[in-house]
Amino acid sequence: MPYPEIRPRRLRRNAAVRRLVSETRVDPAELVVPMFVKEGLTGPRAIASLPGVLQHSRDSLRKAAVEAVQAGVGGIMLFGVPEQRDPTGSGGTDPAGILNVAIRDVVAEVGDATVVMSDLCLDEFTSHGHCGLLTSDGGVDNDATLAAYAEMAVAQADAGVGMVGPSGMMDGQVGVVRRALDAAGHADVAVLAYAAKYASAFYGPFRDAVESALDGDRRTYQQDPANLRESLREVELDVAEGADLVMVKPALPYLDVVAAVRAAVDVPVAAYQVSGEYAMVEAAAANGWIDRERVMLETLTSIRRAGAQVILTYWAVEAATLLRQRY
Ligand code: PBG
Repeated sequence: MPYPEIRPRRLRRNAAVRRLVSETRVDPAELVVPMFVKEGLTGPRAIASLPGVLQHSRDSLRKAAVEAVQAGVGGIMLFGVPEQRDPTGSGGTDPAGILNVAIRDVVAEVGDATVVMSDLCLDEFTSHGHCGLLTSDGGVDNDATLAAYAEMAVAQADAGVGMVGPSGMMDGQVGVVRRALDAAGHADVAVLAYAAKYASAFYGPFRDAVESALDGDRRTYQQDPANLRESLREVELDVAEGADLVMVKPALPYLDVVAAVRAAVDVPVAAYQVSGEYAMVEAAAANGWIDRERVMLETLTSIRRAGAQVILTYWAVEAATLLRQRY
């Protein structure tokens, strides 16, 4: 009887061996939790399409931030939901706007115990829901939007944010934000660039979370899901413009992009496991069709394995807690 001399199964024999040779570990310090804060709320409110995720009041946000720090997450990415919107998204640049106020709240609460980050984009604040200012014919005006982003970056930095996340996919946004921060005395504030961000249908539940007014789509500024090389160009430009980290978004359907970006640059690579990725797993688990915890950790491990060092995920707090029990 011929028999195999080489037996890969020896390294899978029991949990101790598997742990010894595991190539990928997800560390809570690499997980970033997105959080939503809505102006005028007196308590947290559920988001139907994102079970387990909340729209926070200012108070409940502070408490959630403390819990996230206790769980050991590496960062908190803040998104604001204003009561009023206007065509220029002025709530984003107003120091009294909900996102800027929330940054102050969270920084006052947790200080440097985690990295406080903020979405730097106008879509939550505009009445038309686009990520920038509109031209008279309804297109998104790249260069006028850059001026607004510069102002917004400074407002967020003045509020104490540690890292800004320009997510609007305007050409030149990283360079403009970097120069504005430096000129305002905020050279220490880092830029987490949403470098390769696709025009994805996986953002559906997020639009509920921020009550987005968008009618239409973002295909004139976010990337075509069909393209990989274009991502490398976007990433290269962002690094040249001063990005401290670059992000790929969404994550799981774009692991090839994560891997290619990892190979192409030497700055830390982040990936955003977006709302639709999360909601699909939650919905299947609620039906009893998949094992929720195992799928959660498997997706995070896969994103990490593909090369993302930092992962934004709505499961960050829970996953951090589970992972700390595990290792
Ligand atoms: C833009 C922004 C979006 C997300 C993060 N930042 C929405 C969009 O581009 O339409 C989506 C995140 C998610 O789906 O979880 N401010």
